[in-house]
Amino acid sequence: MAEPIGPEQMVHGTAWAQMHGGYFSDPAVAQPLVAAVREVWAGERPSVVVDVGGGTGFLLSQLRETGAGDGGALVNLDGSRLQLSEAEKNGISCVRNSVEAFRRAEVVPAGRTALWLMRSVLHYAGEKGLAPLLRHLRAQAATGEFWVHQTACFEREEDADCLNALYRKMRTGKWYPAVADLRGRLDAAGWRVLVVRPAPALLLDSAELGRRYGLAEADLRRIADEMAAEFGGQNEVFRRGPAGFQADLHYRIFVCAAGA
Ligand SMILES: C[S@@+](CC[C@H](N)C(=O)[O-])C[C@H]1O[C@@H](n2cnc3c(N)ncnc32)[C@H](O)[C@@H]1O
Repeated sequence: MAEPIGPEQMVHGTAWAQMHGGYFSDPAVAQPLVAAVREVWAGERPSVVVDVGGGTGFLLSQLRETGAGDGGALVNLDGSRLQLSEAEKNGISCVRNSVEAFRRAEVVPAGRTALWLMRSVLHYAGEKGLAPLLRHLRAQAATGEFWVHQTACFEREEDADCLNALYRKMRTGKWYPAVADLRGRLDAAGWRVLVVRPAPALLLDSAELGRRYGLAEADLRRIADEMAAEFGGQNEVFRRGPAGFQADLHYRIFVCAAGA
């Protein structure tokens, strides 16, 4: 398959655990999501837990420590070879494919049940790609199966607009919805939203963003100037500082069920 991730791979593999202050390798940060998945797992006892865009397999490793997955399988689906090689070191079963193209049969044996997991992946689809991705995920799930995902989104539309402007200026195709907007899109794609819970925010720092998206210092200065002019130097989610800028990425945990 073609590499679906692009230049961002530079921060994958062994480097990933350190990114964004260690957000994606911190058990305390993961705890609310792991607890939500554990709860659903205990009620459903699915044959397989599939982490879609599971990266290094960190969440599945955390879930395994809670005893979930006993007698079943934990499967990590991701498009990045470097991420998957870390997951394999952790003894997690891996499937390499894109989240938009994979098929249920690749991750769930025929006749078995699944619980679907995802953290911080939907924004890669961009605004136009989000609805097709949600429909594709729904089509892979059997009616009544659960999907527990932690997705970057904002209660206030103006905060989503601010972060979307920042990511456009950094020349990424990523896009963040407001919470109410995402609820509507999930519903339209056939996902019943049962619960929405808070999750820890991620602190974005311009130096790290520069490394992740291949931006020079001059680009970062220009972006900081433009953001300050358009949104103010200090607001709810964006702050300009002497050495660059910082921004807050908000998250919510959604417990969803595949509707009929
Ligand atoms: C922000 S990381 C999150 C990793 C993991 N879910 C976690 O929370 O620790 C996003 C992951 O999604 C994967 N990814 C992004 N877009 C993808 C796509 N279109 N197909 C497959 N994997 C994708 C990346 O390779 C990366 O591992």
